[in-house]
Amino acid sequence: MEYQDILSKRKEILSRPVHPIPADKLASERKLYYEQNKRSLEIFEKAKSIIPGGVQHNLSQNKPFPLAMDRGKGYKVWDVDGNVYIDYLMCGAPIILGHSYEPLDEKIIEIIREKGPASGLTSEYELLAAQEIINHMPGVEMVRFLQSGTEADMAAIRIARAFTGKLKIIKIGGSYHGWSDQMVYSIHIPGTGSLESKGIPAECFAHIIDVAPNDFDALEKAFKDNKDKGGVAGIIVEPIGGESGAHPVHPDWNKTIRKLCDQHESLLIFDEVVTGFRLDMGGAQKYYNIMPDLTVLGKIITHGYPSSGAVAGRKDVMSACSGGLGEKVFVGGTLAANPISMAACYYALKLMVEHDAVGKATAYANRITKALNDLFATRSELGFFVYNFGPIIHYMTTAFFSFNLTQPDAFTQILTRKQVADDYQLVTMTHGLCTLAGTRMYTCMQHDDEALKKTLEIWEYLLSLIPKS
Ligand SMILES: Cc1ncc(COP(=O)(O)O)c(C=O)c1O
Repeated sequence: MEYQDILSKRKEILSRPVHPIPADKLASERKLYYEQNKRSLEIFEKAKSIIPGGVQHNLSQNKPFPLAMDRGKGYKVWDVDGNVYIDYLMCGAPIILGHSYEPLDEKIIEIIREKGPASGLTSEYELLAAQEIINHMPGVEMVRFLQSGTEADMAAIRIARAFTGKLKIIKIGGSYHGWSDQMVYSIHIPGTGSLESKGIPAECFAHIIDVAPNDFDALEKAFKDNKDKGGVAGIIVEPIGGESGAHPVHPDWNKTIRKLCDQHESLLIFDEVVTGFRLDMGGAQKYYNIMPDLTVLGKIITHGYPSSGAVAGRKDVMSACSGGLGEKVFVGGTLAANPISMAACYYALKLMVEHDAVGKATAYANRITKALNDLFATRSELGFFVYNFGPIIHYMTTAFFSFNLTQPDAFTQILTRKQVADDYQLVTMTHGLCTLAGTRMYTCMQHDDEALKKTLEIWEYLLSLIPKS
């Protein structure tokens, strides 16, 4: 779907009231959720006393309580109560070959048996993994492995400052670059500033410039206005738009950013934690043919195996990480680049190429996007719609992410809209669909006709609960 179409459909949803599930029907769905997830509830009740909030990630599925998963295979996951789900969470994007993909798992098991998990010293797999990334990503000449996307984002902005000798980092509202002190600013919804986390001193944001997505004038002004205030070291962006495209970007947005970076001798940092090896084996940089100076990678590079993050890019820029005391940027981690993660990276990328994982996951995503839009067209008064960037699918039902904060009732509206979207998610989850945040679906190369049929049935069921107006 074209950018302008997405915007006008989104505007349409935002101009209308939401369409809640009637209270009696919602109560039956909640009852069913509780009935069929007794073991998950038990685990959650115990977890709450020893794990804050009962979950390990603030972004985990947790309404009305989180479901504990037992195992995954292909495109399915099973919870501890034995319920099965068509999985579109895919661990939050890393899984594209399918869950428990044997050819990959066998390699890792072999390494654990024969070599052990980590020695803290260099292994040959580092070289293999780095070379494999370099082979695919046109903007990458050197790679430093870290342990998460968050760490890699932290490293990228540090390297940008060290390389350019400048101070400011531009961040685009609504985008997510992990949870480090400087980056938890205007996440999820543009303009929300430091709202999402306590415990971060305001000083941490002193050199972060928050620019709203697609605000070309503000972007240019940010570069110009900060010229004599330390200068802009770099701009960090999710190339398909904040929240992996939930805030889609104008077709000229990335090109303009590249141009401004060149004009102002600032670095362009592409956060490709989601787009790398999912949108394209060469990432968004290849897909859009726009070269960043630094690339942030994570998640998918180890295909679900732990310790997954890397900062990568041009040789001269990345060389800032080497050198003697006082000359280099300090980055690293005890378990970073351990042989298991590195082997997972090397073999996963090889297998993705061998099986055309991106091509297959994209083909399915295109089909399900069209099928859902056809289904939603039968209830056009709801305004629901779906769009995708390859195997990254967004569905908009209440568009709570996009509500304009300058409207007087913004917070009430956002919370109401979020609640209705959560209620929809409760229904889809109860009936066997696992998605991300009730707004997103990631596909893998194994999603098939059966998955498509079942997905449509569940959505049809959800629509049947929403009264016709
Ligand atoms: C674009 C983007 N950057 C960075 C991160 C942070 O990665 P991690 O969860 O590995 O710290 C995420 C995680 O969802 C992400 O989507």
